[in-house]
Parts: sequence; structure tokens; C-alpha cells
Amino acid sequence: MKIAIIGSGNMGGGLGKLWAKANHQVIFSFSRDENKLNHLAKSAGLNATVGSLEEAVSQSEIILIAVWLPALEAMMRSVSSWENKIIITCVSGLQPDFTGETIGIQTDFKISVAEKIQQIAPGAKVVEAFNITFAEIVASNSRQFGEDKPTIFYCGDDASSKAIVAHLIEDCGYSSVDAGELKIARTLETLATAWVQFAVSSQLFPNIALKVLQR
Ligand SMILES: NC(=O)c1ccc[n+]([C@@H]2O[C@H](COP(=O)([O-])OP(=O)(O)OC[C@H]3O[C@@H](n4cnc5c(N)ncnc54)[C@H](OP(=O)(O)O)[C@@H]3O)[C@@H](O)[C@H]2O)c1
Repeated sequence: MKIAIIGSGNMGGGLGKLWAKANHQVIFSFSRDENKLNHLAKSAGLNATVGSLEEAVSQSEIILIAVWLPALEAMMRSVSSWENKIIITCVSGLQPDFTGETIGIQTDFKISVAEKIQQIAPGAKVVEAFNITFAEIVASNSRQFGEDKPTIFYCGDDASSKAIVAHLIEDCGYSSVDAGELKIARTLETLATAWVQFAVSSQLFPNIALKVLQR
């Protein structure tokens, strides 16, 4: 698949590299440092290139949005069309200094960030995923914890887009669990905040992962 990485930082850079390795065509975009993008694409191998924001979105079927919340809305409104794109968002209400969202309290939007993205881009199919893992786990040699694969929850309103995203999650070495409709992002984004706070307070950050046990 053709995948645009919008926000080629810790999360975007890491996931883009994994997808390029899994033979997807990846375009890294939206860094303030052109050299960083070129270096990233080079290190991701032959399946990776660099493009402007507009090029990356228009040339891709899947768009990963991996920017911090303050940069989100202006970035989205500067793109001419999001029509029919599958947007994966891992953006939560947290600010870069880990403030900005308290457990149980929604963002300033009063809805989840993922629903806000859907409002800005009504013709797109938005799927929330990857916000309850750490970039350090994405960047490590393997997602495995012994015999176990960490769980990535995803949610969205379009079944076929969710099926594609589930495959992309598994391509990265995680297991995927369908958490329901897009509005469930209100819970997942809050859980992401709780997960970060738990990891930091317990001093277990970053070498931990969440797994759903089943019997
Ligand atoms: N880090 C994690 O473990 C983790 C886990 C789950 C979810 N998330 C979510 O993923 C998102 C990205 O996190 P991250 O850790 O990948 O952050 P990051 O490393 O700072 O990456 C953000 C990217 O956005 C780019 N960007 C472009 N224009 C920007 C602007 N005007 N202002 C700010 N950034 C701009 C940055 O550019 P530069 O390259 O020039 O800095 C950078 O490449 C956040 O919403 C976070 O909540 C993070």
C-alpha cells in the first residue's frame, strides 16, 4: 500500500520504517528539517521517499497522522483534499511535555482528537490506532515480549478501512484488537494518557506494553 507519514518524528519515523520493511511504499513528510526526512527515507530503504505535505497526502491511500496536538488543525486545513483517504491517527490530547489531558477529562474539542480529524476531513475514513504504545517499542528490533505480542487497539466507523489498518498493525509485529466505533477514541485517547502516566510514575517507561489476555 502507499502510506504517507505526516509527522516524521519518533512515532511516524518508526512506523514508517516498519511499513517500508514490510514492502509498503512510504512517503515521509511534515518535519521542519528536510535533512531529517532525507536521512529517514535513506535509512528506511528502497521503499521510502520524501515528499511535501500535499504530495504525500495526494499520492497515498493511507495517511498516518503523528503530530502533536497543537500542530494538527493548521496542518490538516492546509491540505487541499483528504477525500477517500484512510487516516490513521495516533494523536492524543497530551502535549509534548506530557501535560494537557487529565485522566477522564476530554480534550478542548469536547470530542476525541480522532473525531475532530473526521470533522475536518469528512470525506476521509479515520481510524485511531497506535496511541497505547511507545515510540521506543516501535523503534526496537522487535515488538515481541518473550512469547507475547503487545496489543494495539483500533477504532473507526468504516469496516473495510479498519480491516486494512488491522493488517498494518500486524505488519509492525503487534496484535490488533477492534475496539469499536470512532467515538471509542474518547476512551482510547484517555487510556493513552493513563498509560503514559502509569509508565512514568512506575518508572517502567518505556520498556512495557499492554496485552489483552484471552481464554
Ligand atoms: N512518542 C510516543 O511514544 C507516542 C506514542 C503514542 C502516541 N504518540 C502521539 O504521536 C504524536 C507524535 O509524537 P512523537 O513522539 O512522534 O513526536 P515527535 O517526535 O515530536 O514528532 C512530531 C513530528 O511532527 C513534526 N512537525 C511538523 N511541523 C510541526 C510543528 N509546526 N510543530 C510541531 N511538530 C511539527 C515534527 O517535526 P520535526 O521533525 O521538525 O521535529 C516531528 O517530525 C503525538 O500526538 C503523541 O501524542 C506518541
